[in-house]
Amino acid sequence: MNQPTNSAQWKSICRIEDIPVLGARRVAREHGTAVAIFRNADDKVFALLDRCPHKGGPLSQGIVMGESVACPLHNWNIGLADGCAKAPDVGCTTPFRVKLDDNGVVHLDAEELNRLAIEAFEQTA
Ligand code: FES
Repeated sequence: MNQPTNSAQWKSICRIEDIPVLGARRVAREHGTAVAIFRNADDKVFALLDRCPHKGGPLSQGIVMGESVACPLHNWNIGLADGCAKAPDVGCTTPFRVKLDDNGVVHLDAEELNRLAIEAFEQTA
């Protein structure tokens, strides 16, 4: 499910060392809200729209715990794999496909970067 059908869609973004452990790197897009790439203590990487489903807080500035991130504004815990708030909170942000290759390079799906969560941005811009 995490693999694009066309591997040529992968866009290299940075090396895993460029992402702080238990933190995130923000990737700006031509249109729409930036994408946050997170790195956890096990060097797993995840990517979410950098906007909390609660009130739009910058998830890239949150602290990673296991496979979730605590939003810096009101401390909701957002699942890194699915972008959804942990109960009792509700709501989801947009997850993006991300890949860490054997050379330690992190990639995002270029097609998703150009397409996902663009409309939401245009409505609020
Ligand atoms: S904006 Fe993220 S918890 Fe409120």
